[in-house]
Amino acid sequence: MDHFDYRNGVLHAEDVSIADIARRVGTPFYCYSTATLVRHYTVFTEALRAAGLDATVCYALKANPNVAVVRTLAGLGAGADVVSEGELRQALAAGIPPARIVFSGVGKTRRELEFAVAKGIMQINVESEPELERLSEVASLRGVRMPIALRVNPDVDAGTHEKITTGKKENKFGIEWTRAHEVYRRARDLPGVEVVGVACHIGSQLTDIRPFRDAFLRVRDLVAILRADGFDIRRIDLGGGLGVPYEGETPPPPSDYARAIADTLGDLGCRIMLEPGRLLVGNAGILVSRVTYVKEGATRTFVILDGAMNDLMRPALYDAHHAIQPVVQPAAGTPLSPVDVVGPVCETGDTFARQRPLAPVRPGDLVVFRTAGAYGAAMASTYNSRPLVPEVLVNGDRFAVVRERPTYEDMLALESLPDWLS
Ligand code: LLP
Repeated sequence: MDHFDYRNGVLHAEDVSIADIARRVGTPFYCYSTATLVRHYTVFTEALRAAGLDATVCYALKANPNVAVVRTLAGLGAGADVVSEGELRQALAAGIPPARIVFSGVGKTRRELEFAVAKGIMQINVESEPELERLSEVASLRGVRMPIALRVNPDVDAGTHEKITTGKKENKFGIEWTRAHEVYRRARDLPGVEVVGVACHIGSQLTDIRPFRDAFLRVRDLVAILRADGFDIRRIDLGGGLGVPYEGETPPPPSDYARAIADTLGDLGCRIMLEPGRLLVGNAGILVSRVTYVKEGATRTFVILDGAMNDLMRPALYDAHHAIQPVVQPAAGTPLSPVDVVGPVCETGDTFARQRPLAPVRPGDLVVFRTAGAYGAAMASTYNSRPLVPEVLVNGDRFAVVRERPTYEDMLALESLPDWLS
């Protein structure tokens, strides 16, 4: 459920007209709904509570690290899952207490580990033996023992897009499930780390509960093995991954997910940590763009927008589907005809949709891409020297620009000529 609906024939985010925001901010821009963020967070945490779970929800900032979005979730009690020093800084800037932040990722640098240790975050999820050794060294130098979980790779097929599946043994992530015990033993001998848990994340946009269950059962077995060997395992971090509907998918509801966790791990007496990203923010955001031209090609009609693949990469990168809707509601019964919706970037990959049935649009019309709150702005680039698009947060009848569109001067200011050219 979300809060983007037509009112008097114009698409609104909560009580604010998208056309009004476009007039004030210009296009393209991302628009997020506070009410939708709150709703998703509440539904998710209530499902966990109803299943009797002692859970800490660490929002995965990678889905949408905008500080205002993170602050909104922080205000509801969310912690954070971060994967870089940049995200850690954004989480802190948004007011998430260090004691609710977990640091994941396959290639944390020494500098990033030092920063995380210095901030005293809750936990670092270690993904390899060399990282384990380095972290122990970094923490020892500061005279601390850093609480860690090892991220294990359970070799489970998440059944999702190959570019976002992470829990198969050929993926770069985590420590191979069968070697985990050995690496835990090594961790026990190191002075700068304290083993507190097991972590696992098998992929993103899962639409079936089965792979989750399979992975959770492997985690359960591992916890038993480790406890039998004297490890005090008290936290289990299950990552994120629960999917959202983009095109008629029916991902399991949070209640089923919570039940799967409770069934497989609920009796272990561990604190459960979860790292949802997409689920919390996906439906809470749209990308708004304006039609620049409508071009009749030899075999098809192209709707050319001012938004492009650099603003929303998911269709180009994963052939992802995003529903496209005009901001002005077409009259009932308006016939739809198939068009290719494209951006201005100079590659054929800059195509949002092929032969998508749409009501007729004209230059100047506004259209939106739905379910763009996750991995939309977060993955944007400046390809073709296009400024990053601004982000707007709506709350009831108010809205605010929560990330400015950089000016061309801002963009050029980062570049300089070497002395032999100036
Ligand atoms: N935890 C870890 C360790 C992760 O790697 C991820 C996502 C998450 C949590 C959050 O997963 P979520 O709940 O959002 O599925 N750019 C891709 C998605 C990449 C996901 C990467 N890892 C996309 O646009 O579909």
